[in-house]
Amino acid sequence: MQLYIDTANLNEIREAHDLGVLDGVTTNPSLISKEGADFHARMEEICRIVPGPVSAEVVSTDHDGMIAEADQLTAIASNIVIKLPCIPEGLKACRTLSERGVKVNMTLCFQPMQAMLVAKAGAFLVSPFIGRVDDISGDGMEIIQQIRQIYDNYGYETKILAASIRHPQHMVQAALIGADVATVPFKVIQQLMKHPLTDSGLEKFLADWNARADAQKAMA
Ligand code: E4P
Repeated sequence: MQLYIDTANLNEIREAHDLGVLDGVTTNPSLISKEGADFHARMEEICRIVPGPVSAEVVSTDHDGMIAEADQLTAIASNIVIKLPCIPEGLKACRTLSERGVKVNMTLCFQPMQAMLVAKAGAFLVSPFIGRVDDISGDGMEIIQQIRQIYDNYGYETKILAASIRHPQHMVQAALIGADVATVPFKVIQQLMKHPLTDSGLEKFLADWNARADAQKAMA
């Protein structure tokens, strides 16, 4: 399963990249606004740190506006992926860009038929938002499951990117279902390597080791 970080914060991206297991980055207009940075400059900086796919989202809601923005964004770096919303104009723009060989991430996906249509339009990634569905008492993981089944039934090559991940259990479930990628906030990436028994076990190993060293010193 590929791991992307869901942030526009450079320190978080550098730290996650240093772990050696980061495959890509997703951003969105809210994450960029939170950073207060120039959009294009920030995308360029991110692409310099991470060589894998880096999603940059358009804010136009019509086909021509989306294509014009995509033209500017793809000029930033060769690993830019254009993020478009799952609306009819986004679907049309997905087809146009995919036919030109531009990679597209179709975002704000909340039901399996959106995912099927964007796969038909040649999307590179589809982003079902798990956490936002769970937040309104739905079952976000069921959507991932349904998309996986539909894509496998028909051999669609679009990758399923599990998005809006809130905690490690979301990752476990998405991985068991077979999502191709998960995009994860930095806080959750840090939690992925944590277990209290690892910490207490290591503490005990080191204490025993030091006690042995002390005993050897006393015997010398
Ligand atoms: C995905 O690309 C989105 O940026 C993201 O996962 C949304 O997550 P949120 O629901 O926590 O805002």
